[in-house]
Amino acid sequence: MKVLLIGGGGREHALGWKIAQSPELSKLFVAPGNPGLNHIGETLTIPENDTKGLVTFSKDNNVDLVIIGPEAPLAAGLGDALREAGIACFGPDKAAARLETSKSFMKEVCAAAGAPTAAYGRFTAAAEAKAFLRQQTPPYVIKADGLAAGKGVVIADTLVEADAAIDEMLAGRFGEASAAIVIEEFMTGEEASFFAITDGVTILPMIAARDHKRAYDGDKGPNTGGMGAYSPAPIFTDAVYERTMNDIIEPVVAEMARRGAPYVGVLYAGLMIENERPRLVEFNARFGDPECQIMMRRMKSDLLPVLHAAACGKLEGQCFDWTDDAAALVVMAAQGYPKGYEKGSTIRGVDAANDLPGVVVFHAGTREQDGALVANGGRVLNITATGANLREAIDRAYRGVEAIDWPQGFYRSDIGGSAS
Ligand code: AMP
Ligand code: GLY
Repeated sequence: MKVLLIGGGGREHALGWKIAQSPELSKLFVAPGNPGLNHIGETLTIPENDTKGLVTFSKDNNVDLVIIGPEAPLAAGLGDALREAGIACFGPDKAAARLETSKSFMKEVCAAAGAPTAAYGRFTAAAEAKAFLRQQTPPYVIKADGLAAGKGVVIADTLVEADAAIDEMLAGRFGEASAAIVIEEFMTGEEASFFAITDGVTILPMIAARDHKRAYDGDKGPNTGGMGAYSPAPIFTDAVYERTMNDIIEPVVAEMARRGAPYVGVLYAGLMIENERPRLVEFNARFGDPECQIMMRRMKSDLLPVLHAAACGKLEGQCFDWTDDAAALVVMAAQGYPKGYEKGSTIRGVDAANDLPGVVVFHAGTREQDGALVANGGRVLNITATGANLREAIDRAYRGVEAIDWPQGFYRSDIGGSAS
């Protein structure tokens, strides 16, 4: 099978690493890739937002399957364009990706499907939003309706802060994405991420993972794309799994099909769990980053035939096999991330880290320059490790971190802390 993988982060490196182990793979193209992926597949210079270029390349090179990693090409309609051209694509159409790209659409679908989530209101005028806010209790949750690169959520303790967030967002802080806002009830509990693959009808559940979203130890500092993750997630019990499938994933996939926008790809449910009751915080139309990386470390079976079957509407009968081993991941980020940070500092020790027991390093924001590896993003390296239990996986991941020589980087030292 000839495969084109779109994206260039740690998530895509992990997907490429996994797919490269498949006996069904004959050729892997990556666009734009990264120094980790470029050793696995052939790098294309076509940018991920060049829909026409990617479709033309896929047709001309008889690509059998395109796998879309990040949300931006999904939101731009790459899935639609590929399917129109008759190319199998793992990743939803633009209309189905609205589960991620519009918070109010997600809420509307949940209401129709009866899926448990926070109560909310949608507003385009500040006066109405502020009046609604005054009927809520703090902390107040204010979100841009559209895609805001993970930065569109404000959790405010006071009305003054909440009013300021409303004014800023509606004044265009995130452009079109915050022309409308959503105000939500604040949910308490513990978070987990759960993933399921679907062809629009059949659903194949994956596993749950926990992500650490805040930048610094002790869950302090600003929200990031994720500073580390681990799996299994002890909070995700069998009862939580049953409820997540029965009350959220299955009815939502059915509701999307009923609306004529069948969801094809991986559905990522961000959950808030309290007393073994999951409620939906958000959907994403893609694999989580960094959660994907640890799922790939725990998957024993071949991923490629499952993604191809999902893209072709033939998921029925497919299955996954997972190891009982645990996996953990520590993100090494550039100092200053998620705010301003420098690019170009030299990184050493990746090979030494990869040689340690259970460790695999995925590249997230790196570049090769004159034979050296240099930082080229905010989240730069993902140090993953497997182990017989969470404690061992976490300890091994940190041994990997210690093998990396990169003074301009930082990481959290408490990944998996409460779970092991
Ligand atoms: P989102 O981008 O919607 O996932 O929100 C980012 C983070 O904000 C989530 O991972 C939660 O930690 C927090 N959050 C979002 N919505 C709520 C809510 N309604 N109640 C409590 N926390 C929330
Ligand atoms: N880890 C959070 C995300 O992928 O959105």
